[in-house]
Amino acid sequence: MPWATMSRQDPWTDHGAGHPEPVGLGRTEFRLAPRVLGAQLGTTNQTLSLEQEKKGKKRHPIAGTMLNQLLNFNRLHHYMTDLATKHYTYRLISPFRSEVYTADPANVEYILKTNFPNFGKGWYNYTILSGLLGDGIFTVDGEKWRHQRKVSSYEFSTKVLRDFSSSVFRRNAVKLAGIISNAATSKNSMDIQDLFMKSTLDSIFKVGFGVELDSTCGSSEGTLFANAFNDSSELTLWRYVDITWPIKKFLNIGSEAKLKKNIKVIDDFMYKLIRTKIEKVSNSKDDSAVECITPDHACFLIEKKEDIMSRFLDLNETDPRYLRDIVLNFLVAGRDTTATTLSWFIYMLCKHPHIQEKVAKEVREVTKASEDLSFGDLAATMTEEILDKMNYLHAALSETLRLYPAVPVDAKICFSDDTLPDGFSVKKGDMVAYQPYAMGRMKSIWGEDAEEFRPERWIDENGMFRGESSFKFTAFQAGPRICLGKEFAYRQMKIFASLLLHCFMFKLTDESKPVHYRTMLNLHINGALNVRAFHRPGCKISTT
Ligand code: HEM
Repeated sequence: MPWATMSRQDPWTDHGAGHPEPVGLGRTEFRLAPRVLGAQLGTTNQTLSLEQEKKGKKRHPIAGTMLNQLLNFNRLHHYMTDLATKHYTYRLISPFRSEVYTADPANVEYILKTNFPNFGKGWYNYTILSGLLGDGIFTVDGEKWRHQRKVSSYEFSTKVLRDFSSSVFRRNAVKLAGIISNAATSKNSMDIQDLFMKSTLDSIFKVGFGVELDSTCGSSEGTLFANAFNDSSELTLWRYVDITWPIKKFLNIGSEAKLKKNIKVIDDFMYKLIRTKIEKVSNSKDDSAVECITPDHACFLIEKKEDIMSRFLDLNETDPRYLRDIVLNFLVAGRDTTATTLSWFIYMLCKHPHIQEKVAKEVREVTKASEDLSFGDLAATMTEEILDKMNYLHAALSETLRLYPAVPVDAKICFSDDTLPDGFSVKKGDMVAYQPYAMGRMKSIWGEDAEEFRPERWIDENGMFRGESSFKFTAFQAGPRICLGKEFAYRQMKIFASLLLHCFMFKLTDESKPVHYRTMLNLHINGALNVRAFHRPGCKISTT
């Protein structure tokens, strides 16, 4: 679906790129009967609930405390999926507020759309996230959010940005194919998650700033920035479970001292780049390109006005802090999400070789690429029109996101007392979180085969991609704050996946090694995803 058409559609139904999808759920369709407090709960809780019921206000069952989350930190999403299977919607007790976790699509629709103004980031999320993300689109509500959403939606819908980003994705996919080809020739194993991380960072950096970071080819600056970026993301998530973080911050010790150091690395790098760019862009009389010297004195040609920052500069936004926040939020939004999804996708294809073959077959049939094409020539065939025809690939990526959503839990703050569609009440100040990870695995939502990786569930009888309600498939959120980069992400993932699967076959280096997530803001694979690649017969080995 072209970005330009987004505004003409209901912006908060789950539109897959170029694919027709059903509209949102009816409220009753997925509503479960409120659960009576089970035997698992202590008598105090039952008494509490009965008192509240007498007053006409029922609160969701208490499934544990925040301490349980800490104790289960390394298997947090398993733990929360188990709780969601028992309770669908439940509360965890924390010292400052009730935390309500829901896997009920009717509740999700209510929070994200029906009563959208009553559930937002709030002061709680803002204080946790703003250290890293400033006043960017991820941390703010109200007018500040509306303004950024409006400007960013417009920019993302322009053909200039779409064409520019597609050409960046193709170039970086070709670069990655070259690295994988060398590893295949020398029969070396590689950490494909690490390669995707570098490649998507380079891509989003180029689209955000117009500058090559080149972390894929090991530029020291890119690696330093990428490490600081990884550590900051992890340390920021830690704030959600470590209630002592404000004290540590005040004393500048432990995790908070580390976070501060990492944010400084990020800021130094970004501010230098922003200042250089503002100077160069304002001094340049030539409209087509400007030269930019980065902090390590490397010199780049920036295609003027194609990248996100230039487009904001064009709107006379020259406050370095504002520009830093905008671009950093896009980097955070666009890097880990697509890289982790591509990693889990390759993992799933290694676990299901017949599905890997099916995707490769579709790419071959849709591109009709002749056998002697180089990586570059092949990438050039991946136009939007061609990508739109790859229904099975789209389904396999969506199926990956169902089971391994890049954002596994997403928390909002309730701004005033409210009653959710399941009949239970939430209070002002409660944290209310929907759970894409748990929801993707629930039989009550996806059927008995919920835990199975089966792209076919997304394909209709005519072989076309069939979307799901965004209140059921919540990987991209839903409602007015639905992911702004959804189409962008699918386009990037489809370009990378189609080029790589057309040229290579992937196998896990060690089939017996367990693969697990690492608990972070995004659903990373813990450690590395080591795979071996094999050239497919007929794919010419060339990086040009
Ligand atoms: C597989 C890839 C992706 C997934 C699963 C994903 C998922 C999400 C989710 C769950 C949110 C809501 C987060 C929140 O509550 O704050 C979100 C928001 C957002 N995403 Fe994505 N995202 C992906 C890729 C991207 C890309 C590539 C970009 C842009 C380059 C992007 C830009 C954004 C922005 C700007 C928002 C904030 C929207 C708002 O608050 O109005 N995303 N995304």
